[in-house]
Amino acid sequence: MTTTTIFVCDTCRHPDGEKVHDGKTGGETLAEHVEALAKGAEALTVRRVSCTMGCERHCNVSVTAPGKLTYVIGKFAPDRDAAEAIVEYARLHHAAETGQVPFKQWPQGVKGHFVARIPPALGG
Ligand code: FES
Repeated sequence: MTTTTIFVCDTCRHPDGEKVHDGKTGGETLAEHVEALAKGAEALTVRRVSCTMGCERHCNVSVTAPGKLTYVIGKFAPDRDAAEAIVEYARLHHAAETGQVPFKQWPQGVKGHFVARIPPALGG
């Protein structure tokens, strides 16, 4: 079975608008938390990317898998609580046949963070 991939933008700024705190971007800090929480999870892959063109928001993430819906989510705090919600949401995305997670299952920490839902690419 394919994995659900969490793309974390590692060049995103911090919520206060500063690019770097303690030598790290907001995206790098969030990516570290997401990577730590998803480590060893067979259902999940974490990839860092540099800019997903959502720079008007801070700490942007995309959750996707082959043949499934892609969700763009953002405006996260670069902390462990946000990462826990993102990783839990990605697990649910993996478990859902189309990638669509029923609203009642959404982790509290992803509510209000959705930016876009993108249909799966057509094959052939
Ligand atoms: S720097 Fe993260 S979306 Fe552009």
